[in-house]
Amino acid sequence: MTRAEELENRLRQLVYFGGAVSKETNLTKLLELIADQVKTILNCDRCSVFIMDRQTNELWSKVALGMQHTEIRVPFGKGIVGHVASSGQTVNIKDAYQDERFTHDIDRLTGYRTRSILAVPLKNVGGSIIGVFEAMNKAGLPFDGDDEGILQLISSLAASAIENAQLYESLSKSQLETIYRLAVTAEYRDQQDTAIHLRHISEYSALIAQGLGMPEREIENIRYASPLHDIGKVGIADAILLKPGKLTAEEFEEMKKHTIYGSKILCNAESHLLQVACKVAGSHHEKFDGSGYPSRLKGDQIPLYARIVSVADVFDALCMPRVYKPKWDPEKAREYILEESGKSFDPVVVEAFGKVYGEILKMHALGDGKSTIIPGITRELHRHNF
Ligand code: C2E
Ligand code: SIN
Ligand code: SIN
Ligand code: FE
Repeated sequence: MTRAEELENRLRQLVYFGGAVSKETNLTKLLELIADQVKTILNCDRCSVFIMDRQTNELWSKVALGMQHTEIRVPFGKGIVGHVASSGQTVNIKDAYQDERFTHDIDRLTGYRTRSILAVPLKNVGGSIIGVFEAMNKAGLPFDGDDEGILQLISSLAASAIENAQLYESLSKSQLETIYRLAVTAEYRDQQDTAIHLRHISEYSALIAQGLGMPEREIENIRYASPLHDIGKVGIADAILLKPGKLTAEEFEEMKKHTIYGSKILCNAESHLLQVACKVAGSHHEKFDGSGYPSRLKGDQIPLYARIVSVADVFDALCMPRVYKPKWDPEKAREYILEESGKSFDPVVVEAFGKVYGEILKMHALGDGKSTIIPGITRELHRHNF
C-alpha cells in the first residue's frame, strides 16, 4: 500500500468509526465497539478503554478472561494508565517492561505479554479527562507519530459517545426506578409481600432464561422487564382485586383486562426494555395451547419472554398466600408446572424450569423474610451501574 492509500484507508475507517460509535447508547457495547475499531485502525493486538470513576478515584476497564469479562481498577496516578489520566499527556513506549511506571498486575491477571503501549487521555468537549485509551502491541513496529495523532482523534470522537452513553444509562436507570415504584404501587393492593414477589418473578424468569441458554443481554432484559408484568392491575377496582373469595365470572372478565391495561401503559415507551415489558404484560396469561387471555394466542405466537414469565408467575403465585387461597408447598407447585407442560406452558420453557429448579428453590427459601424495600431490584440496578 502506498502512503496515500494508507491515509485514505485510515480516513475511511475513521469516518465509519464516527458513525458507528455515535449510534451505540449501551455503554458496555460501546466500549467493546471502540476497542474493536481501534485494533483494526491501528493494526494492534489489544485496546483497553479505562473510564474515570470520580467517586473512588480509580480508572476501571473490562478485560476478557477466557469467556468471562472482569472489571479491573487502577488507582488514579498508578501505572501508565494512571499517569496519563493525571498528567493529561500521551505516552508512547516501545517496551513496557523497561518502563518503571508500568504495573505488571494486569498482565499477571490475563497472562498477556504487553510490549508496546500507546496511551492517550480521553477528554470531553470541556477538556476534562474522563478516561484513558490504551492501545497495545502494534504488529511489527512500535507506534509512530501518525498513530498518536489518530488515537488522539479517535479519543475525542469516543469521549463524547462515552459521555452520552453514561448519561443515557443514568437516565434509563432513574426511569426504571420510577417504573418499579409504580409496579410496587400497583401490586401493593393485593399482596403484603409485593417486594418479595417482584424479586422472585425477576430472578425466576432470569434463571429460566439462563436455563434456555438465552444470550446475556436477553437474560438481563427479562430480569428487568418481568417485574412489570402485572402493572395493569392499577386499573382494576379494589372490590375485585382485593376480594377475599372466589371471583364471579363477570369479575374475572374484568380482572383479565389487567393484561390489556399493562400493555397500554408500557407500549408507548421508546426504550427497548419497556418494549419487552409491554409484551410480557400483554401476554403473560396466554397459554401454550391457545386457551389463555386476552388474545388466545398459541405456541410461538406468544412472545418467548411472556412464555417464560408465565411459568415464573404461576409458580410464585402458587407458593405465596393470596387473599383467595392459601400458599402451596413448592414441590406441589413444581408438579403443577410439569403437569401443565404443553397445556398452559411451553414444554421447552418447562424443561428449562426443571433444569434450574434447584436455584429457584433456593431463591424461594431466601425470600421468606419480611422486607420493606426492594433488595433484589436495588441490587440489580447497582449491578447495571458497573
Ligand atoms: P395471581 O394471584 O398472582 O395469580 C397468577 C396466576 O397464577 C393465575 O392467573 C393462575 O394462573 C395461577 N394461580 C394462582 N393461584 C392459583 C390456584 O390456586 N390454582 C391454580 N391452578 N392456579 C393458580 P389467573 O387465574 O389468570 O388470575 C389472574 C389474577 O386474577 C390473579 O393473580 C389474581 O390477582 C386474580 N384472581 C384470580 N382468581 C381469583 C379469585 O378467585 N379471587 C381473587 N380475589 N382474585 C383472583
Ligand atoms: C499500566 O497502565 O501500567 C498497565 C496497564 C495495562 O497493562 O493495561
Ligand atoms: C402476579 O401477581 O404476579 C400474577 C397475577 C396475574 O397477573 O394474574
Ligand atoms: Fe397477571
